[in-house]
Amino acid sequence: MSRYAVFGHPVSHSLSPRIHAAFARQTGIDMQYAAIDAAPDAFASELERFAAEGGRGANVTLPLKELAFALCTQSSAAATRAGSVNTLLRRDGQWFGDNTDGAGLVRDITGRWSLDLRGRRALLLGAGGSARGVAPALLDAGVSELIIANRTPERADALADSLGEPTRAHSRYWDDLQAQGDFALVVNATSASREDNVEGLSLPTQITTARTLAIDLNYGEAAIPFMAWARAAGCRDVIDGLGMLVEQAAASFEIWHGVRPHTDEVYEELRRDSILLATAD
Ligand code: ATR
Repeated sequence: MSRYAVFGHPVSHSLSPRIHAAFARQTGIDMQYAAIDAAPDAFASELERFAAEGGRGANVTLPLKELAFALCTQSSAAATRAGSVNTLLRRDGQWFGDNTDGAGLVRDITGRWSLDLRGRRALLLGAGGSARGVAPALLDAGVSELIIANRTPERADALADSLGEPTRAHSRYWDDLQAQGDFALVVNATSASREDNVEGLSLPTQITTARTLAIDLNYGEAAIPFMAWARAAGCRDVIDGLGMLVEQAAASFEIWHGVRPHTDEVYEELRRDSILLATAD
């Protein structure tokens, strides 16, 4: 049986083992998929051990994606542009790195939520690892403009510059967002809600209309503050990162096994459970 895993720190709440088990059942592929907790300073040795024990591929989640990129001898264009890796494949005794986060986000937005991004304006909040992971894919999806705003403006400038598309990708000061018009897509790629004692993001309602799709890359409790803001601002479609999570997993699965699983069933199942969790208390 071939061995796969997700590495993270912490990783016990990861939904990836459940998602990949569902894909394996659906496609009839015999595989084992574990969750391995590895602190950043232990990640390289844990990964080597995993390879020595027959590990064929892995997902990588917070806070290890940049480290994973550094450990790969070869990386895809998506991983290189993001400077981070969420999918590892063992090839000829070495790790090949890819990043399926951006493609997963775009597939969720354009497929599940039927928002055609071509020629539309998008706003990306945040300029950390998550933002870097998805920004190139938003440009590839054909947005007319990608505005990046970040608490620390220099990081937004650096991300915009690194995208190499000066006519479409711009940084703007967070405090100037109310003067930027409205957006078809607003993506929260900040970690604000994952930190303790943090107030919600301060955002002007002028950036949205009823037709704006507002998406938080977090899911579960961490997505609640931004989603509540977006609903109060009047957005009809307000979603968390669960669909992206399932889509990036499907893309990883395809890299490893050469088969693309159907995602709707596992998405619906996880969505049902997350609603039950949200209403349980
Ligand atoms: P991740 O891998 O989740 O992207 P990260 O690389 O640490 O994590 O990036 C976190 C992002 O959330 C950054 O854009 C950060 O802004 P700074 O660059 O100014 O640190 C943003 N962020 C974190 N806490 C925030 C807060 N309270 N308000 C606004 N942005 C915040």
